[in-house]
Amino acid sequence: MTIENQLQPQVSLTEAIKTRRAARAFSSDPIPEGILEEIFRLGLQSPSGYNLQPWRFIVVKEQKNKDKLRACAFDQPQVSQAPVVLICCGDRRVNNTEYIEEMIQLGIAAGGVNEKFADYMRSAIPQLFEYKPCFESMEAWTNRHTMLAVAHLMIVAKAFGVDSCPMEGFVTAQVKEAFNIPVEVDVCCLLPLGYADEPIKKYGGRFSTERVCYGESFGQAL
Ligand SMILES: Cc1cc2nc3c(=O)[nH]c(=O)nc-3n(C[C@H](O)[C@H](O)[C@H](O)COP(=O)(O)O)c2cc1C
Repeated sequence: MTIENQLQPQVSLTEAIKTRRAARAFSSDPIPEGILEEIFRLGLQSPSGYNLQPWRFIVVKEQKNKDKLRACAFDQPQVSQAPVVLICCGDRRVNNTEYIEEMIQLGIAAGGVNEKFADYMRSAIPQLFEYKPCFESMEAWTNRHTMLAVAHLMIVAKAFGVDSCPMEGFVTAQVKEAFNIPVEVDVCCLLPLGYADEPIKKYGGRFSTERVCYGESFGQAL
């Protein structure tokens, strides 16, 4: 297969969603660098409130660092087996003025933000973080956004034939200390990426639409 072909998704969106499983074992096959770049390029198109994009990813590839991470993750083997492990973080400091301005300038350069909307954001975003009308803690806010980006990354990865395993089985304090993560940055999950190995995890089923969706008010049948 040529490198151009490799950089095209191999699996349709529907198939990627249907066949993605949280891989518990990985082969040692590396992820080609171009594919990893594409996974980030597309996965990071995830939406965020005011486009603040608070997600940050530490890309861990060196075996000694993966082993160190595994020790912070209840010794789960997939962490040291996968060729790449992302430490998926959410940065609370995106509420500072300089960062908000950086994001606004990004929007202006992309053509999606005009001066009127820029001024609106300069006053509305600090208020969002002061009054927190829709979240109780900054950690809830960073997690909300980072996990959405993680979902994008997992589906994009699967479209390129790359498996993943979202993980909350880790000790936050240990991960933060071992990887120099600042106090204001939350660790939202770990995401090993690579090629699933035997035993391949089986599908565990999903509740029906009727079981989890309500019509018009909570608890009312759809
Ligand atoms: C936020 C989150 C945390 C998870 N933590 C772990 C984990 O620590 N270890 C693990 O092996 N799987 C973990 N999983 C994977 C789930 O067990 C898995 O997604 C679920 O059983 C459904 O299976 P599927 O993703 O293969 O369809 C986690 C999944 C999510 C979304």
